[in-house]
Amino acid sequence: MATDERWYDDAVFYAVDVEAFADGNGDGVGDFPGLIDRLDHLDALGVDCVWLLPFYPSPNRDNGYDVADYYGVDDRHGTLGDFVAFVRAADRRGIRVLVDLVVNHTSDQHPWFRRAREDPDSPYRDYYVWVDDPPEWPDPDRGPVFPGEEDTVWSYDEAAEAFYYHRFYHFQPDLNVANPDVRTEIRNVMDFWLRLGVDGFRVDAATLMIDNKGGLESTRLDDPHGVIRDLRRFVARRGDDAVLLAEADDEPDRLADYFGDGDECNVLLNFLLDAYLVAALAERRADPLRRVLDLLPAIPEEGQWANFLRNYDELNLGRLPTADREAVFEAFAPDEAMGIYGRGIRRRLAPMLGDRDRIELAYSLLFSLPGAPLLVYGDEIGMGEDLSLPGRDAVRTPMQWADEPNGGFSPADADDLVRPVIAGGGYGYEAVNVADQRDDPDSLLRWFGRLIRTRHACPAIGTGACEVLDVDDPAVFAHRIAGDDGAVVAVHNLDDSPTAVSIALDGDPTVAFGRDGASVRPADDATDGSERARAWRFDLDGYGYCWVRPD
Ligand code: GLC
Repeated sequence: MATDERWYDDAVFYAVDVEAFADGNGDGVGDFPGLIDRLDHLDALGVDCVWLLPFYPSPNRDNGYDVADYYGVDDRHGTLGDFVAFVRAADRRGIRVLVDLVVNHTSDQHPWFRRAREDPDSPYRDYYVWVDDPPEWPDPDRGPVFPGEEDTVWSYDEAAEAFYYHRFYHFQPDLNVANPDVRTEIRNVMDFWLRLGVDGFRVDAATLMIDNKGGLESTRLDDPHGVIRDLRRFVARRGDDAVLLAEADDEPDRLADYFGDGDECNVLLNFLLDAYLVAALAERRADPLRRVLDLLPAIPEEGQWANFLRNYDELNLGRLPTADREAVFEAFAPDEAMGIYGRGIRRRLAPMLGDRDRIELAYSLLFSLPGAPLLVYGDEIGMGEDLSLPGRDAVRTPMQWADEPNGGFSPADADDLVRPVIAGGGYGYEAVNVADQRDDPDSLLRWFGRLIRTRHACPAIGTGACEVLDVDDPAVFAHRIAGDDGAVVAVHNLDDSPTAVSIALDGDPTVAFGRDGASVRPADDATDGSERARAWRFDLDGYGYCWVRPD
């Protein structure tokens, strides 16, 4: 692929869980041959970059985030050869590939951990974090990430006769990145995948990776962000225009640190925007969005946000002020079973919003905000969740390809599927699937194709300067993004009642994207054409939206 260092500014990212996407060999589990067969779908949609969730050999007790071998493909998903064939097939379509770099921890089945526990003198012992006696008063900032599922971060290992540290599940011992040998191992892992042609890494749990693990003196890093700078330096050296996309769900005032001076992460998953955007949807008013745009730090020119509405984890509301959080829970997770960890929601976006117009509004808004948008497989057809599945699996059901057995995901017996396909009701594969939506010009899938094409035609959104515009209606969020490639003004009505707002624009606007029924015309009080800025009246239906180019 041609070198284009800033390709991520305008990329549409798409997260794929290989095991739940498409089963090519009929054993009930998604695999690389299946994914290759479905690349045309991603191509037609306009996806620029696929981020693959972990597909490495794993006991698979945390959806593959418990890695037992960093250098392979789990048998269930195919072979390394299949992986390379996938990268090549994606490349032929101009689609880039990021893989998950899960190096905050390993699986407890990883050979490093096995050796570490069995032999105190093994060099692998110091790959992990051990104490003889865990602190009596656990550090409140370093508690279990999954409250309710884990009640400690120190678990006793009989063989080692010591306690090891784990912020996630007890079967995911934390790696000690203060150990230079661990840092070398991480570089080797990156080198391997870069040589197989990947375009970079989604860095799992970056915040915890550089934390002072367990609060111990021995794991304290003199320069925590130096760890990320090392990764970036390495990627830049080996990978042409390869990038780091990081999971750094940190305090607002610490977020900018993950970009460094343009020498750390290229892209950060924008968890803060996600939470406030959902609050704006729940409260049907623009105010939370205005607030989050103030909260988000300025970022270096080389940096970018990856904006999303939902992912394959819980929707984390932990960083919202209490009133906003309560409003979101009340609107979108009225049943207790929809919540998780006391801070999140385990639902997909489509059933949370319910209404097709409102789903369009939400994604139109997302794609118009400064940053690069990210979808998770199934968003493009409006898939639902299965609350009968445990924990976050509720939002990880197989992709719904067609109104065929198992939703076209796999020819295996339904009992053999990695997870059940959603069947029946408003969100079952009979009603929500790719094949039907591909044939229907009014479908959500075809709408997403138009949205993505429009986003690609408006590169100012990726790099321009964003200004929130004042309008009379508190339910309306209006903003202008202007850059070298022109300007875009977008107006979104978060409420279900129709509205009209007046906005002063330079030049005559042309509509770039919008719901039928959205119209723009000179406002009654518009000045005559002799002055540059004139008032324009935007008429919007309930949940209406409209993007215009002002000149
Ligand atoms: C990340 C992943 C999540 C996983 C955790 C532990 O947060 O997104 O799914 O459980 O890391 O690796």
